[in-house]
Amino acid sequence: MNLSKERTTGKHKFELLYPQDILDKRIKELGHEISEDYADKEPVLIGVLKGCVVFLADLIRNISVPIEMEFILASSYTEGHESNNNVATAGGSEIPLTGRHLLIVEGVVDSGQTIAAIIKNLKKQNPASIEIVSLLDKPSCRTVDVDVKYVGFDAGDNFVIGFGLDESQRYRNLPFIGKVVNN
Ligand code: IMP
Ligand code: MG
Repeated sequence: MNLSKERTTGKHKFELLYPQDILDKRIKELGHEISEDYADKEPVLIGVLKGCVVFLADLIRNISVPIEMEFILASSYTEGHESNNNVATAGGSEIPLTGRHLLIVEGVVDSGQTIAAIIKNLKKQNPASIEIVSLLDKPSCRTVDVDVKYVGFDAGDNFVIGFGLDESQRYRNLPFIGKVVNN
């Protein structure tokens, strides 16, 4: 482990996984890819609060085609690092979603339970398509089959913080992605 990359913030110690310049570069690429794929589709980006906020703010400024935006408040986490199957969602859509191309924007997909619950709800409105973009993905942690079309980085099975992602609601403001090394 590279000790020079370890940082201590509050009571937690983090190892730097993805610094801001690497994140910026990858988000730019994702924005270009999405702009090409959705050139004539005017997608509705559905941000999953709260973890999406930093990623979404950067992503939309790298999308060059018209988009609209909605938000859903959802999480399958209560406190701590383990996923549970109790997914709470809140927030209706001001934009009618029937016949629209939906792109769900997440900070991290872990078990897939949160996204699966969101997709189930969104399907009731008969959208034209539903895809997912997530800054981080943990495909090895899935308990439900969910396909993330656009992935920034694979986070392995690490618990990650920063760039919008929290540990018990803290550290969302860190401008990098870190991995909790002792907790
Ligand atoms: P899932 O339902 O297990 O896929 O979990 C997704 C949700 O759990 C995300 O919206 C996050 O709020 C939270 N989450 C999952 N993994 C992490 C992590 O490594 N750090 C911070 N939050 C996480
Ligand atoms: Mg959380």
